[in-house]
Amino acid sequence: PRYFALIPAAGVGARMEATSPKQYLKIGGKPMLRHTLDAFLSSELIAHTFVVVSPDDPYIDAVAPHHGVTVLRCGGASRMESVRNGLAVLASTLSRADWVLVHDAARPGLTAELIEKLITGTGDHPAGGLLALPVVDTVKRCIDGEAAGTVPRNGLWLAQTPQMFRYELLREALAAATDPDSITDDASAVEALGLSPKLVEGHPRNLKVTLPDDIRIAEMYLAVSQP
Ligand code: CTP
Ligand code: MG
Repeated sequence: PRYFALIPAAGVGARMEATSPKQYLKIGGKPMLRHTLDAFLSSELIAHTFVVVSPDDPYIDAVAPHHGVTVLRCGGASRMESVRNGLAVLASTLSRADWVLVHDAARPGLTAELIEKLITGTGDHPAGGLLALPVVDTVKRCIDGEAAGTVPRNGLWLAQTPQMFRYELLREALAAATDPDSITDDASAVEALGLSPKLVEGHPRNLKVTLPDDIRIAEMYLAVSQP
């Protein structure tokens, strides 16, 4: 089978409160998105990597390497729409049975080892698979600022990316999804079809850089090599 990477990188990074979108902030001297792209370029299992950016993105040409990566200027108003637009552009390039690994640009701690672990762990699962982490904290339901109950953390996992699906299934799932803002990852669109993707244990270094302090945490993980 062939494996392709699709990286949505068309967000504005509002919660980061920086002057440029967070995927272009430097981590250890290198733009975040370049770390992310390099993880896929370093994996021999990935046939090609596609990155989705906004149509008017002024930064990507200085960041994307010339080999192994194709820039798609078709970002949308939500993550889901950016992924959906990217998949549509690839209709003549990918075949239905090809696998697509969708990965947040804002997860620069990904490694070739984790990519391989996901692909191996998902195998030929009909619903695809994703990296995720078991919840370690005690989980509270908050109502009006008060703890209204404790949700048993046993059986709760936090979704990471990459999330991998056959091209045909992912397109079908995202076409069926109606509320772009409620779909914050790709697996949830597949789950809405009644399918259960495989959960493969990820690693804390694959955190999503969201808030200003996350830059330093990512820097720390990138300074130590592999999980
Ligand atoms: N993303 C995208 N298109 C959008 C929104 C998000 O491609 N319209 C991408 C982001 O660039 C990021 C990934 O989806 O790589 C995960 O989204 P998130 O962490 O929420 O990034 P932002 O939306 O940029 O950040 P924020 O929600 O704080 O504005
Ligand atoms: Mg967002």
